[in-house]
Amino acid sequence: MNFKSCLIILAGLYEVSSSRVLELSDKFIEVSSDGMWFIKFYAPWCAHCRRLEPVWAHVAQSLYNSPIKVAKVDCTRFTTVATHFKIRAYPTLMFIKGDFQHEYNGEREKEDMVNYALRMSQPAIQKVSHADSLGYLKETHPVFFGYIGKQQGPLWESFSLHAQKYQPHTWFYTFSHDIIKQEVSPPNETSVFVYKEGDIFFFEAKEVIDNDESLNVTLDKWINSERFGFFPKITRANINDLLDTEKYLVIVVVSENKLNEITQIEQDFKDMVEGIVKKKKGDLNHHFQFGWMGNPDVANSIVMTELTVPNLLVLNSTTNHHHLPDDDPVLMTPEAVLIFLDQIHTQTAPTYGGNGWPVRFYRGFYEARTTLTNMWRGNPVLTALVFGLPLGFLSLICYSVCCADILDAEEDEVLETHEKKD
Ligand SMILES: *[C@@H]1O[C@H](CO)[C@@H](O)[C@H](O)[C@H]1NC(C)=O
Ligand SMILES: *[C@@H]1O[C@H](CO)[C@@H](O)[C@H](O)[C@H]1NC(C)=O
Ligand SMILES: *[C@@H]1O[C@H](CO)[C@@H](O)[C@H](O)[C@H]1NC(C)=O
Repeated sequence: MNFKSCLIILAGLYEVSSSRVLELSDKFIEVSSDGMWFIKFYAPWCAHCRRLEPVWAHVAQSLYNSPIKVAKVDCTRFTTVATHFKIRAYPTLMFIKGDFQHEYNGEREKEDMVNYALRMSQPAIQKVSHADSLGYLKETHPVFFGYIGKQQGPLWESFSLHAQKYQPHTWFYTFSHDIIKQEVSPPNETSVFVYKEGDIFFFEAKEVIDNDESLNVTLDKWINSERFGFFPKITRANINDLLDTEKYLVIVVVSENKLNEITQIEQDFKDMVEGIVKKKKGDLNHHFQFGWMGNPDVANSIVMTELTVPNLLVLNSTTNHHHLPDDDPVLMTPEAVLIFLDQIHTQTAPTYGGNGWPVRFYRGFYEARTTLTNMWRGNPVLTALVFGLPLGFLSLICYSVCCADILDAEEDEVLETHEKKD
């Protein structure tokens, strides 16, 4: 397509708005496979969409000089577009490149979304050909994966498959053995490593190297469990991925206010735990994934009670059991935290929760109650209507059903007594 025809299509497609976000119409379906798009599917009435609006404008601004076009579609006006892309919730963010479509499920922060779009616009694996580039990568990426050696054989095949699978989440690079061997001294001519906030960890595949399928599975698990930083922020968006790491998830629970601030006591506790993570990462990284949570609601729904903040919650990702310290978390020293973690690892710490049916039943009950309470706090009238009306109908139906029974019964009885009298 030449530049002129491009312009004509563009003029026909978009209403020009003051922000860099392109407003698309249903004509988009025809041209969606041209170029790269990062699209917000929205509905004007949706509050989350409105909250995203200014952030989305910033994303468009940041990506303005890239080949990625940032756009939005009003799905209430252009329902065919919504149907075509199988949109089920608002807002849905989607990256489209040719026939490839991927829904973005990460944090709705400008930085995260821009990084994601830039990553998706590149091939899943990029080749590094200068020794100096490693330093640049370390400065610009908190976490990335690297492959060293010849691009052939089972390890390479598995690595490239997983690079595609995990491209939405992290970066993948290849290096020749020569340019990197002095910097990182790999254990083998062909190796896979992860760079994580200053440290390099190698993938050890010694025991599985003769079996391609188990190599594939092991590498998959390893990439999934190593792709997070040492102390990420945990939210509803990433907690399930973190639980998939099959490590213990150690969460510092604090309560941020609307300006994302926390109290000094919470900050001190968070810094203390982060200090332990940084100091002992070599030992702890194997079994524990740390992180912090600014919104205690998620933690509360896991432990099914209101936690005091700051707190330290440890989740067993395979059994969904959790552990809480016996002492007041605020009084814990780094030594006490390490002892607590060691007890969890040796399975001598007290355990709560899990996946048994009484727990699941109670969790359902707890969540329903919390949802109702929150709804009531947010909008009592609507809650009363939503639950009041059906309940009202239900009681009316119950009343008529039961009363009809009682009436029938009485009638029967009355008839019987009459008969007896006769
Ligand atoms: C090094 O890699 C090769 C090829 O992948 C493999 O055959 C060999 O066992 C590895 N050696 C070690 C020590 O891991
Ligand atoms: C290896 O894993 C990837 C992603 O998990 C999967 O798509 C692929 O089919 C697997 N290959 C084999 C040979 O098991
Ligand atoms: C969770 O608990 C099970 C059973 O007690 C145990 O085998 C496992 O090692 C624990 N840890 C993790 C991280 O799943």
